[in-house]
Amino acid sequence: MKIVRTPAAMSRLAAAWDRRVVLVPTMGALHAGHLALIHRARQAAGPDGAVVVSIFVNPTQFGPREDLAKYPRPFRRDLAVCRQYGADVVFHPEAEAMYADGHSIVVDETLLSGGLCGQSRPGHFRGVCTVVAKLFNLVRPHAAVFGMKDYQQLAIIRRMVRDLNFPLEVIAGETVREPDGLALSSRNVYLTPQERKQAPVLRRALLLAQESFRAGERDATVLRFLLENELSGAPLARVDYAEIVGAADLQPVARIEKPAAMALAVFFGKTRLIDNIVVQPARSKRPPPRSRKTP
Ligand code: PAF
Repeated sequence: MKIVRTPAAMSRLAAAWDRRVVLVPTMGALHAGHLALIHRARQAAGPDGAVVVSIFVNPTQFGPREDLAKYPRPFRRDLAVCRQYGADVVFHPEAEAMYADGHSIVVDETLLSGGLCGQSRPGHFRGVCTVVAKLFNLVRPHAAVFGMKDYQQLAIIRRMVRDLNFPLEVIAGETVREPDGLALSSRNVYLTPQERKQAPVLRRALLLAQESFRAGERDATVLRFLLENELSGAPLARVDYAEIVGAADLQPVARIEKPAAMALAVFFGKTRLIDNIVVQPARSKRPPPRSRKTP
């Protein structure tokens, strides 16, 4: 496994690719969720392809009061994990090399990033899009894998790839969960034992709302009430948002007539957890065309 530490070296390596390359962008602190993404990348790359894992805690996607300084950085452990799971290249640049002095160009998505996490974390998706665009330019992958837990991020990256004509495929990786349903996240390590005990309430609330949707409920106000009601049973949970939005445009819906995402962000102390479920109304069967009698 090759470790590449500078953007210039990454660019040189990418210029010489003669095989299919799949990128897994990460901020490190790798857990089983990332391993599933690396595994998915390996499948997508094929036996002769290369899997590149980027490990970069991107400062521009953290707000001033967020956890950039204390974000976990177990780099040696991450390297061992990448090696074990068959990554071919780990790209691990320094922030100063990624963002030269006076770096003044950003990538701003203007439609999908307004609500949900974009509303609670102003500037977050500008930071994500900017760094992911830079990673795409440096690594030049044929495909890149992003987790479905970060549903809004996945939708925005897809839009960026489409709108900025990046010649690559975006692959969605399934969310990996603890046995009690908590979605794996590098931030779960911040939870106190009591918070950890209550954290699976996100998944429970989503499953409850999904069950009601499956039983025929389409009113978003009712479904949101179910989500909030279940979350209120966890005394340490502070809801940031509980929203129901169109799966493609991420705009709030009043009724679910098209595929929709039920999305949650919940604070436990200072730790903010997110999760989501996508629901799809069954396509209504069109009545067969009436046969016209020919005169
Ligand atoms: O999902 C993440 O870990 C980050 O937002 C990403 C995509 C690696 C960009 O820094």
